[in-house]
Formats: sequence, structure tokens, C-alpha cells
Amino acid sequence: MTKRTVTLTDNATGKQVELPVHEGTHGPAAIDVRSLYKELGYFTYDPGFMATASCSSAITYIDGDKGILMYRGYPIEQLAEHSTYLEVCYLLLYGHLPTSTELSDFSRIVKEHSMLHEALRRFYGGFRHDAHPMAIMVGVFGALSAFYHDSTDVQNPRHREISAHRMISKMPTIAAWSYKYALGQPFMYPDNSLGYTENFLRMMFSTPTTAYKTNPTFVRALDLILILHADHEQNASTSTVRLSGSSEANPFAAVSAGIASLWGPLHGGANESVVRMLSSIAESGNVNQYVARAKDKDDPFRLMGFGHRVYKNFDPRAKIIRKMCHQLLAELGAENQPLFEVALELERIATEDEYFIERKLYPNVDFYSGIILRAMGIPLNMFPVIFALARIVGWISHWNEMMHDPESRIGRPRQLYTGEQPRDYVPIEQR
Ligand code: SDX
Repeated sequence: MTKRTVTLTDNATGKQVELPVHEGTHGPAAIDVRSLYKELGYFTYDPGFMATASCSSAITYIDGDKGILMYRGYPIEQLAEHSTYLEVCYLLLYGHLPTSTELSDFSRIVKEHSMLHEALRRFYGGFRHDAHPMAIMVGVFGALSAFYHDSTDVQNPRHREISAHRMISKMPTIAAWSYKYALGQPFMYPDNSLGYTENFLRMMFSTPTTAYKTNPTFVRALDLILILHADHEQNASTSTVRLSGSSEANPFAAVSAGIASLWGPLHGGANESVVRMLSSIAESGNVNQYVARAKDKDDPFRLMGFGHRVYKNFDPRAKIIRKMCHQLLAELGAENQPLFEVALELERIATEDEYFIERKLYPNVDFYSGIILRAMGIPLNMFPVIFALARIVGWISHWNEMMHDPESRIGRPRQLYTGEQPRDYVPIEQR
């Protein structure tokens, strides 16, 4: 089949360059611009990478216009209905749904690695008691690289697999202990007789004094949140992990950089900001004033939980989690709480107000996940931690795919220089 190409003409010189086009299995083809600088002397310019493919990947596919999200070809709607987070971890990591033997082996391995080294446990004591749990996560997760000298060869597939297992296994313990440390409560060790998500909830909410009974609806709701947040193509935090890992830094350090990126309120910090915003609006009693502020170009305020870089249609994850959100609120009899009433009012406005319709600003997954986590009694500053707990498998799957990709090389973007022309040094007495 003849290779597709595009021809670029420099209208200033009439010089032309023919660029190859790469076809994916789904979605837009990509123009290979690697020869552009050599042939025509130009860089490409795309702040925020709105139209730039940084890599090829077989893990997740998003169609923002059609509201499609697939993990390894499986529609998110089917995985949300039939799968579990641990099974989705296997799918994202290995590329196929596990047989029952593969899943039980994977589950056993994940349970075997769920404890942290006791020296790492003492690491928590160095933080102020009111440290944000994401600050603790960045530090503690990065410190894991100090403990695992047995699997540091990033070019060794078996070492990469061991690191992936360790991250998926230990993330719930690190996350739950970040919460317990902030509370000043004793750390609860993993109980491997429980399932992955139930084990995390138990480490979060149980204490040595009373037997802990998990609420099955909470387990299902959280497992659904973890499935929906597990991966999302080349989002900011995943791209951070890929760029950090491209220098062959160890995977724990690369993922720690991803945790830091996820913390931002425009990304994984959005669900925490959603509930803070809903609380302020509920307190003010004036939804319309906040909507007006969100529409005002001179006001930096944005409606957190609305809009998405890629989804210019309803975020498919939001559609799925919206159902669980309303079901949980009904079960808890919380629908009439002011905060949730404001959420339902904002949801209505976003689907009727011209500003939001024109800009295709629909509620995104973080709008509903924030409400569910709040209803489950998970504290606000733990919301991005839950997001990181879910996304760990996406990060490590992309890192592994990159390390395995013969085309991958150290990431080093260029720039459009807009600084000073060359000038001579001026001695201080002449300034
Ligand atoms: C996640 O990349 C991923 O996949 C991320 C994620 C994942 O799973 O990894 O999906 C998770 O990060 C979801 C997004 C969570 N963030 C928020 O909810 C924060 C609030 N949303 C916005 O800040 C914003 O929508 C972004 C950051 C999500 C997307 O920003 P873009 O794509 O850069 O869009 P933009 O800033 O160019 O906005 C386009 C227009 C602008 O208006 P105009 O200049 O055209 O007049 O829409 C407006 C913006 O002002 N706009 C909003 C708005 N979001 C965009 N106006 C009011 N409220 C908002 N939330």
C-alpha cells in the first residue's frame, strides 16, 4: 500500500518538503515532522500539545467528539459494568483480559507486595502533621527507589514488571497511610484476605479499637471510580511520567513526578476543587453569581469539574459515574444536602446555558467523583490521592510501553526563542 504523504510549501522561498503520514488503527493520522527542521529549517509550534502526538500507543483510545474511551479496545462502558479495577490493571498492563488463572496469579502477587518496608513507614514521621497527603505521596513514592536495588535495570522487561507489580500493590498502603498520618491515627496494615479496593477502604477507615465493616456500595462506587480514572492517553501526568522516564530515570522517580503533575487543580486536583467550589456556592446561596463569574473573561474563576481538553462532548466517564453518584446520594438520603443541590443545579445550567453549550463545557468525570468521594466521607485533600491510586496503573503501563518502544528516545522539546538579541556584558559600575 503506498505510504500517504503531505507536501509543505514554504511560500517565502517556494521550497517544498514531502512529509510521511502515519496511520493509526483508530482516530486521526499523524504527520511525521521529524525531517521538517533539516529540510525547511522550521520547528513546529504547539503550546499545550493541542494537536501534537508525542508517541504512538496501543493502551487507550479517546474520541473527544464522539465521547469514546477504550482501554486496549474495550469500551469503558463495558469495563465499568462487568470488570473490576484489579482486572483492568491486568488489561492495561498486559494488553488482554486475564483468564481466571492469570487473574488469580496477578491478584496473589499484588497481595504479596502490599506491605511497605518498615523504614519507609518511619519516613512519614518527617512530615508536618498537616502536610497535604499529595505532598506525602510525592515524597514517599519517590523514596521507594531507595529500597528496590534488585530491579533497577529499566531495559530489563522482568525488572519493569516487578516494579509495576510493586507500585500497584503498594499504592493503596501509601495512600491510606498518608491519610492516617494526617489524622494522627495508627497505620492499619493491609489485610490480604480482602479484595483490593475493600482493603484500601479498611486501611483508610478502620482503627485497632473497633472491627471495621465495609459498606458494599462504597466498595463498588470506589472500584468504579478507580476503573474510570485508571488511564486516559497522554494527559498531563502521564506525559510527565513518559518524559521523566525517557531519561531512563527509575520508574518510582518518574511516577513520583506524575503524582506531582496530577496534583494541579486543572488536572487531578480538580475533584478536590469541585467540592470546595460547591461548598462556597452553597454557602453563598447564589449559583447564578458564580456562573456569571465563570463566563466573565476578566474573572479567572472557572467552574471546576466542567470542560475537558479532549472531550468536546460529554465525558463518557461522567455519564457512567453520574448514575452511581445519584444512586449513592439516594441511598445515603443526601440528595437534599445544599452542596449536592448546587451540583444538580450547575449540571442543569451547563446543559442549557449558551456559554457552556457553545464551548462544549460539560461536567467531566471529576465533577461527579468529587461528589461521590465527599458522600463516602473521604476528606477533600484525599481526592487527588484517590485519583493517583487509580492512575498508577496507567502511568506504569505507559512507562513500560515507552521503555519497550524502539522509537522512543529522550524527550527534549525545542522552543520559539523570543528573548534578547546577542549583547555584551556591562560592568556593574556602568549599569
Ligand atoms: C482531568 O487530559 C486528561 O485526560 C485529563 C483527565 C484525565 O483523566 O487525565 O481527564 C482528568 O484533568 C479532567 C479535567 C479536570 N479539570 C477541571 O475540571 C478544571 C476546570 N476545567 C478547565 O480548567 C478546562 O476546561 C480544562 C483545563 C480542563 C481544559 O482546558 P482547555 O482545553 O485548555 O480549554 P480552554 O482553557 O482553551 O477553554 C476553552 C474555552 C475558554 O473560553 P474562551 O476563551 O473560548 O472564551 O472554554 C472556557 C475557557 O475560558 N472554559 C471554561 C472552563 N473550561 C474552559 N469556562 C468556565 N469554566 C470552565 N471550567
